[in-house]
Amino acid sequence: MTALNPKPNPNAPTEETVLNVEHYTDRLFSFEISRPPSFRFRSGEFIMIGLPKRETEKRPIMRAYSIASPAWDEKIEFFSIKVPDGPLTSRLQKIEKGDTVLLGRKPVGTLVLDALLPGKRLYMFSTGTGIAPFASLIRDPETYERFDQVILTHTCRQKAELSYGLRLVESLKDDPLVGDMIGDKLLHVTSLTREEYPLKGRITTLLETGALFENSGTPPLNPKEDRVMICGSMDMINDTKALVEGFGLTEGSNSSPAEFVVEKSFVG
Ligand code: A2P
Repeated sequence: MTALNPKPNPNAPTEETVLNVEHYTDRLFSFEISRPPSFRFRSGEFIMIGLPKRETEKRPIMRAYSIASPAWDEKIEFFSIKVPDGPLTSRLQKIEKGDTVLLGRKPVGTLVLDALLPGKRLYMFSTGTGIAPFASLIRDPETYERFDQVILTHTCRQKAELSYGLRLVESLKDDPLVGDMIGDKLLHVTSLTREEYPLKGRITTLLETGALFENSGTPPLNPKEDRVMICGSMDMINDTKALVEGFGLTEGSNSSPAEFVVEKSFVG
């Protein structure tokens, strides 16, 4: 008698092919993988990804990553940090075109348009790789259908760390899908904390001093018109959230949309 083949696990990650890899600094890189036709997500969500397990491992190491590409794209893009001794990124940073990356099946997350009440302006506050979910949302036509103005802030330590975002925003001008919709609706505010730059300081400082509003030509945050999404380290989220709450905005979720939402960016 021959043994029956074990049933494939419907929740197991799918094996996807690396299509492109780009390195920005010794700490940052982005990569694209193939997208299974059945894979659906909302712009701004995150998903578990990993690498095929090695012989010495019981199961593959999987980590939650924000999807940086928009929901309509046929490829899936990620923007990642490289941690020399990070369980996943120490290996992931070495991937090349043609390699295999494991992709989970259940995208989730709160940095989605559905978790916010309608408003006039959408602020996206990001630090470091926290720009990833917003890289997805600023390429989604729905973002511009729902808001009159979109203000993406990105704060990093050094200039080279801004290049992924700067390049992306520049490329949107000629984007066949959202290029025309964006017009002057999208404002990209970049600031640095550890190098000379026209706008210096953490997002928290820019909010406290009002430099953000001066720079954007917008009034101070108000719960009637403004919606906010926050993505960065735990400390950045807590500090920024406290300030946003100070302006009178309340936190929302998928089940109870409100005026701002937060999510921690991947760190390991
Ligand atoms: P700083 O250089 O003053 O620490 P990291 O690479 O450590 O995640 O930092 C990314 C950016 O986030 C840096 O510009 C850093 O500023 C800033 N940052 C770190 N902690 C906070 C915080 N609690 N609130 C706001 N911004 C922060």
